Amino acid sequence: MKIKIINVVGARPNFMKIAPLMTEMATHPQFEVSLLHTGQHYDRSMSQFFFDDLGLPKPDIYLGVGSGRHGEQTGKIMVEFEKVMLDHKSDLVIVVGDVNSTIACGLVAVKLGVKLAHVEAGLRSFDRSMPEEINRILTDQISDFLFITEKSGEENLLREGIDPGKIFFVGNVMIDSLLNHLQRAQSSKILDELNLKPQQFVALTLHRPSNVDVRENFVEILKALDEIQKTITIVFPIHPRSQKRLQEFGLGAKLKEMTQLKIVDPLGYLDFIKLLSEAKLVLTDSGGIQEETTVLGIPCLTMRENTERPVTVTQGTNIIVGGKAEVIVAESKKILAGILKQGRRPDLWDGKAAERIVKILLKNF
Ligand code: UD1
Repeated sequence: MKIKIINVVGARPNFMKIAPLMTEMATHPQFEVSLLHTGQHYDRSMSQFFFDDLGLPKPDIYLGVGSGRHGEQTGKIMVEFEKVMLDHKSDLVIVVGDVNSTIACGLVAVKLGVKLAHVEAGLRSFDRSMPEEINRILTDQISDFLFITEKSGEENLLREGIDPGKIFFVGNVMIDSLLNHLQRAQSSKILDELNLKPQQFVALTLHRPSNVDVRENFVEILKALDEIQKTITIVFPIHPRSQKRLQEFGLGAKLKEMTQLKIVDPLGYLDFIKLLSEAKLVLTDSGGIQEETTVLGIPCLTMRENTERPVTVTQGTNIIVGGKAEVIVAESKKILAGILKQGRRPDLWDGKAAERIVKILLKNF
């Protein structure tokens, strides 16, 4: 009897987490694996480019739910995923990360009595105004296997009453992808295409609702960017959410004045890794990028008040700077002047997390 598994993806940060699991599982004939895409992200640049770059197979099931308010999007995924589950008779559903697709599919699985594994469990920002924090807490409460990336995850889960027998410290599947693809990413031509020289630009990502959905906060960050771009080029692959807000808030003219701020479309995986690896500094409010820069040894300033990934601060190159222009500019200037925080790679971020997860699953089924 084969172990029937559904691997779930929905949004951009999921694809690089599921890819190494798909590859590893394919080498074990005991598994019968289906890849399910909820369609939370659907633009070519937010989805298909990643399938191509990561060598992910076409999803076996595509729910096509698209965008919507949180209740609407989560609800739609649940309705559609339940239909699939009733047809499929799976033994296990695997969800990754903290997006709406993660909690929606997790909830459907457990209500149907199907085992649930959460990859990247236990991370906590302790900020419940973040939609991802709610998704993380709830998914962890209902999971049967909790695969954690860093030791802080274990403390968090134990504090929330999770049975220690369900918690497994396996490392970081997103870093599996990074290490698997780093060499290929080096041949990306993105620097030439964007007319950039290694170490002579800042890479920026910005899309957290707390930063871009509130005009005042967005304007404050733009003030910092304006100052920084006077000394070095900033490249900003822009997320659709941020693009939309810039227009809504009428901030287009302000941006035009910043002649060294280059706004570009969202990049594919390999191009983006190349961009990160050659940057002098990375400014971000993303979760995963804090981890990627830590492994690449690139300075990272996180424009948030907190991080759910504390190991990137205690051991890595990450510094939390919040959203105030003055602090962002001061910390950026230090790095541009060569005052760097030394970091090291966290334990088990060695490219073998997927292998460990698969071993644990085989032992337990
Ligand atoms: C989602 C995740 C977030 C993750 C981010 C990475 C949740 C709660 N949030 O946020 O944790 O960091 O993905 O990208 O799941 N849109 C498009 N095309 C797309 C997808 C979205 O234009 O392919 C636009 C739509 O206007 C949509 C908005 O972006 O309303 C937000 O998309 P949504 O999936 O709700 O959340 P993200 O901000 O992308």
